[in-house]
Amino acid sequence: KDKRPSWFERTLVILKPDGLQRALSGEVLSRFEQRGLQLVAAKLIRPSAAHLKQHYWELRDKPFFTNLVTFMSSGPIIAMVWQGTDAVAIGRAIIGATDPMDALPGTIRGDLCITVGRCEEGPKEYWELIGKRNKFSCLTNSRFRNVVHGSDSVESAKHEIDLWFKPAELVMWERCCHDWVF
Ligand code: PPS
Repeated sequence: KDKRPSWFERTLVILKPDGLQRALSGEVLSRFEQRGLQLVAAKLIRPSAAHLKQHYWELRDKPFFTNLVTFMSSGPIIAMVWQGTDAVAIGRAIIGATDPMDALPGTIRGDLCITVGRCEEGPKEYWELIGKRNKFSCLTNSRFRNVVHGSDSVESAKHEIDLWFKPAELVMWERCCHDWVF
């Protein structure tokens, strides 16, 4: 049994390529900081498709798997580890629902992104007007640019942190005198 205290729980958060391109890194980081989670690792990298396939391996049979990997390797991302009480659940709450259309205001996705997931309802002329060949190219290119990824369980957080960070890259540090934050 894991005997570590609950404040030691960690979660992997990734600022996705759309988040960096839209200059949302400060906004996203501050939401985790302000809630009271503690940053213990961070790196700016452009991950390879092979690395992302490992990260999303459980989704390998989903129809959007290739699209997701292509999107996530399309530019730099910031991988982070946040630590604190119930870090995984709190992280998911800060991020909001997967589909931005379902994400509540106050969450990162509910405040900072929108999906064109309903675009299959648009007429053919609309896709031509906005320069897309058809509704499928729109769906493929535009859906689920949802700014951030967050681990969905304590187990997957451990697995994902191991995949993205070496143990020595996780920094142990104490927040002095701020017990009231929690
Ligand atoms: S599922 O089907 O319930 O397992 O998927 P879900 O947990 O909702 O999402 C898992 C990750 O897949 C991304 N996703 C998509 N990407 C591209 N296109 C489509 N249609 C799509 N549907 C889901 C979703 O954003 C999740 O990625 P992360 O990085 O965890 O946010």
